[in-house]
Amino acid sequence: MSKSYNIAVLGGDGTGPEVTVEAVKVLDAAAANFGFKLNYNDFDFGGDRYIRTGEVLPDSASSELEKFDSILLGAIGHPDVKPGILEKGILLRLRFELDQYINLRPVKLYPGVETPIKDKGPAEIDYVVVRENSGGIYTGSGGITMKGTKEEIAVQSMVYSHFQVARCLKYAFEYAEKRGKKKTLGLVGKTNVLTYVYDLWERTFNDMGAQDFPDIRRDYYHVDATCMWMVKNPEWFDVLVTGNLFGDIITDLGAMTQGGMGIAAGGNINPEGVSMFEPIGGSAPKYTGQNVINPLAAICAGAMMLDTLGEFEAAKKIEAAVADVTANKMESMNAGRMGFSTTEVGDLVAARV
Ligand code: IPM
Ligand code: MN
Repeated sequence: MSKSYNIAVLGGDGTGPEVTVEAVKVLDAAAANFGFKLNYNDFDFGGDRYIRTGEVLPDSASSELEKFDSILLGAIGHPDVKPGILEKGILLRLRFELDQYINLRPVKLYPGVETPIKDKGPAEIDYVVVRENSGGIYTGSGGITMKGTKEEIAVQSMVYSHFQVARCLKYAFEYAEKRGKKKTLGLVGKTNVLTYVYDLWERTFNDMGAQDFPDIRRDYYHVDATCMWMVKNPEWFDVLVTGNLFGDIITDLGAMTQGGMGIAAGGNINPEGVSMFEPIGGSAPKYTGQNVINPLAAICAGAMMLDTLGEFEAAKKIEAAVADVTANKMESMNAGRMGFSTTEVGDLVAARV
């Protein structure tokens, strides 16, 4: 009997559902070709549901989703809902409750894709950011006192436990080993200012590296300098690891260097549990329903999902198909300028899988 996987599909808001449909199209083509089966269950979490019912996310969501082999997410964010409600109430809540403590974000320039960086190509822009996804300033304590007065004080703390740091670093070292490219891991921090939090990161990084991963070369970069090198010398990087906020920021920069949000994918990974894969761009409300948004990021997220499920060959095939389409078919990665519609891009990739 062939293997089968149960996938929860959270299309979400805006263009999310459109791009996940294309990802599913490509995933099904891969499944048919590589002898496995994917069963999908749709969930309607998102802005429309919230506006309709007043509920952001049912309390049962995580325990429901835990029963699946994986989750495919479109986008969260609705123009009629105040910023923060859905992002925190759905996306972040699921990441935390499902303990998806790794956010894996490849920065990979596909052939034929335009990068704003002069003289750099696919050989130079090909690295992976391991973003810690369960803690830091995203979950740190805080609050506001004396709100609305001149004495108002706002606090939001960057909090990391050794446990959180160590499990993230372990994943990153193992990932650098498995990737086998340059066998280097760069820690991105701010040890010159954040002398508590990034001191913890750096000590744990060096101790673990020396003890358990002696064959992985360790580098250290301040986060501001990292932004500089990501533009000037991206070829230096192989695998980078960093805390939640820095990871959020540098991966948007990384996405731009790889051709924009239309092609940037990521995975929220619980190595011991259920993971959730998503295009890292937003819900793009102004393009909703026009069949013009680029589905490649969602398709690449689908490939990452298959890789995590252990369907390595199928994942590689999708990546190769995407590369063929970017190299030989599409005019641009930008919505409305691809030379094809959303569904046509999905068809082009599916046909090559
Ligand atoms: C991302 C997003 C989210 C984050 C927002 C929407 C909460 O920017 O996935 O990078 O900050 O993690
Ligand atoms: Mn972000």
